[in-house]
Amino acid sequence: MADSGITVSKDKAMQKLAEDTVDAIRSTFDVPLNYRPVHAKGQLVKGTFTPSKDASKISKAPIFSNPSTPLVMRYSTDTGFKDLPDNGENGSRGFAIRFMLSKNESGHPNFDIVTNNAYGFIVSTGEEFLEQFKAMKAGKMDEFLENRPHAKYFQANQAPAHSYSFATEQWHGIHAFKFINGEGKERFFRWRIVPWQGVMKHSKEDAQKQSKNYQFDDLEWRLTHNKPIKYRLLAQLAEEDDPTTDSTKVWPETNEFADMGEIVIDKLWSFDEGTPPGEELKKIFYNPYPHDIEGIDASDDPLIAVRDVVYQLSGGVRRGHNDLPAQQAVR
Ligand code: HEM
Repeated sequence: MADSGITVSKDKAMQKLAEDTVDAIRSTFDVPLNYRPVHAKGQLVKGTFTPSKDASKISKAPIFSNPSTPLVMRYSTDTGFKDLPDNGENGSRGFAIRFMLSKNESGHPNFDIVTNNAYGFIVSTGEEFLEQFKAMKAGKMDEFLENRPHAKYFQANQAPAHSYSFATEQWHGIHAFKFINGEGKERFFRWRIVPWQGVMKHSKEDAQKQSKNYQFDDLEWRLTHNKPIKYRLLAQLAEEDDPTTDSTKVWPETNEFADMGEIVIDKLWSFDEGTPPGEELKKIFYNPYPHDIEGIDASDDPLIAVRDVVYQLSGGVRRGHNDLPAQQAVR
């Protein structure tokens, strides 16, 4: 990666950290250059966001004042293994959302929310995240965890259980972001996406009895049988003492949750990363940093800054290798 030739950050230390991180992740899973180094198995879907009636009082972002905004989203399984079984050991899943604010492909503004189904995060800085992948690759995870009580606890107790269906999963933005409303009032928050059907999980034993693509098969069945998936987009609002720069620290569930609107998913977009119509899946890359949208800002959580550079770099590398043959379909 160091020779990718893609400079995203003028801050040399940040650029190097991002390059080393993408490198470390890619080599851990030995992922081909035209696939995502993590969240490699996935499916694009389309839908619509409709804001709640009070959302625009909390943030002046156009997604809350426009009557509705088209969405392009991607469900994924964690890791760089493109064929990771849905019924295997790993229950971590991702859900990335793009609000299509512009039809101009090359120009901003689009706005992304990138979530997963975990509560909180294993480490609080990009440097530690890189250390984690280095330890994983060197077979020294036990040592890594022994030196970090939170990471050890997270690994043992916060690994997400397998969702019954993507439609019954709850998603978290993990880091703190900031709303700014029309009067200039600011409020820190964390994204929370809650399924209309309620959260339903399999036990580990029951998950193993499902088929190897059961979550993606269920997604396809729902969206080809006129069964839209619906979520509420919520914002967990920070109280005064809630930490906004450390993603390992979850906030109390007793905090107020603001209802920001509804996400409805009604269409599969493409199945295969390798061949048309899978081209879009190869090209699209999400970025959790809220660039170019008024009314939503990043907090000083260091993970947001490093992810900004990492996702642009990783997406750039993938795009640079779009012409590589796909080794297999996504699922
Ligand atoms: C320092 C922390 C993290 C790093 C370095 C990292 C790195 C990455 C990389 C390199 C990719 C592939 C990007 C691409 O090629 O398009 C990715 C994808 C993804 N990450 Fe992270 N990640 C981090 C934390 C998180 C967190 C906290 C979440 C959830 C809140 C998350 C959710 C996702 C999702 C959902 C995708 C797939 C996006 C898609 O469908 O295209 N990541 N991550």
